[in-house]
Amino acid sequence: MARYSLRYVGDPVLREKAKDVTDIDGKLVKVARDMFPVMYDAPGIGLAAPQVGVSKRMFVYDFGDGPGILINPEVVESEGEWTYEEGCLSVPGLSWEITRPKQIHLVGLDIDGNEVSIEADELEARLYQHELDHLDGVLLLERLDDETRKEAMKTIRELDFQSMSKRQRAKIADDLSLP
Ligand code: NI
Repeated sequence: MARYSLRYVGDPVLREKAKDVTDIDGKLVKVARDMFPVMYDAPGIGLAAPQVGVSKRMFVYDFGDGPGILINPEVVESEGEWTYEEGCLSVPGLSWEITRPKQIHLVGLDIDGNEVSIEADELEARLYQHELDHLDGVLLLERLDDETRKEAMKTIRELDFQSMSKRQRAKIADDLSLP
């Protein structure tokens, strides 16, 4: 059985600002490893630790180039604008067009504690920015304009992800024909 399960919109851990990782110990490595099956199973291309109830600044990803882990990530530079239909595993089956910087320069640590510096564009840049938001307790809903957010919140209240089974959530994603 999976050690962690996905947390959904309405779960208070998703609104917390996650704590900096001060020590990359065996426990943290295990959390990172255990996050991958949750992400692949969803399926998704990125997953932040708060989404499995761990309020630490770390996220995992795999957008087709193999698995990656970033710890204490920080955007040091961003440029341009890019609008993309964005979804979130914690708000399953729903997505919205969101505009964010197109290119970013991201720094952080890998799982061995080495400093990493990444120049990312479009989908890759989007993924990092989305996961970084999770570490600040920000869901994509907060990136919507007031009117769209109100509608989104109404839909989310009606769906009530918290009380749904995994099968029900999958069915809703299907019915809405969204990623
Ligand atoms: Ni998300």
